Amino acid sequence: MVNRHLPSFLLLVSLAAAHAIPAPVPEHAQKAPNAWNSGSPSSPHTQQQLLRPRFSCDFPAPGLLAEDCDYMSAIGMKGQGVNNQTNNGRIWTGTDGPNLFTFVNAAQPGDDDRSVILIVWYMAPTDGYQASFMNARVPDISYSLPKRGDAITISMANGVAGGWSALYNHKTKLSAYGQINNTFGEFSTGDYATIDISRLVNMAGDAMTVEVPGGCVSDMTRCVYVCNSPAVNSCGDAGTYDLLKCDGFNAVQHKDPSSGEPTGGCQGWSFGGQIKVFLS
Ligand SMILES: *[C@@H]1O[C@H](CO)[C@@H](O)[C@H](O)[C@H]1NC(C)=O
Ligand SMILES: *[C@@H]1O[C@H](CO)[C@@H](O)[C@H](O)[C@H]1NC(C)=O
Repeated sequence: MVNRHLPSFLLLVSLAAAHAIPAPVPEHAQKAPNAWNSGSPSSPHTQQQLLRPRFSCDFPAPGLLAEDCDYMSAIGMKGQGVNNQTNNGRIWTGTDGPNLFTFVNAAQPGDDDRSVILIVWYMAPTDGYQASFMNARVPDISYSLPKRGDAITISMANGVAGGWSALYNHKTKLSAYGQINNTFGEFSTGDYATIDISRLVNMAGDAMTVEVPGGCVSDMTRCVYVCNSPAVNSCGDAGTYDLLKCDGFNAVQHKDPSSGEPTGGCQGWSFGGQIKVFLS
């Protein structure tokens, strides 16, 4: 299970799995913000959130408060989460899956009403980076955690890749390209399951901590993707980012052999594991 004890031919397989985890700001999105949305005018200054008609919140998904649904609609998201409550072979709310991710509203003591809307998206093998553009994609999960201490456990099937972020206090918006303008988590389940935090969309985003069974932690300073330049808030082009301090137990850090880009994260939970994510 522990990657660094594997023979090198297996390590190569693990590289293939780990480098599927995206850098969240792809080059083409930086240069062509409307590429995802062929119905929009192509001016780079167009604010898609103003153009997109709001989606209906007459029937909020199970677990999503109506006011949170309204907020998602107002900032230009494409839709509310599916929030499937039964095993759909992918990502669902429930505790019967092989991989369980428990997300906790970990606001500071005294900040009891700091609301969180958890957003989880699925990345199909053919998707690439598109999956995280919430102006163009409906998330698998959007779940309200309105009070400090609120938590939800999400099941993930094996062989699934995806990511998450969160909207805080009805303040977090989409970036100019349509991603959530905050800290991201990224994961792939199954063989060589890997999880990490990425700050590439917004280096000034809210803090998250991911705890993997057996001991690896990904947070704002460990097993985390960051922009190399202290002068930028967002990055993603080749050579502009790095993976920091991902070298402890169950932690994996490599250069992708084809691109030379950093890759890796917390492993040790292949084909099943209980992950804790604190949204602080
Ligand atoms: C939930 O998943 C089940 C099983 O795959 C499927 O039949 C159902 O249509 C899904 N529900 C929604 C709302 O997507
Ligand atoms: C994203 O958030 C950062 C601060 O966290 C802010 O400086 C930046 O302007 C925001 N970007 C957009 C497009 O709102």
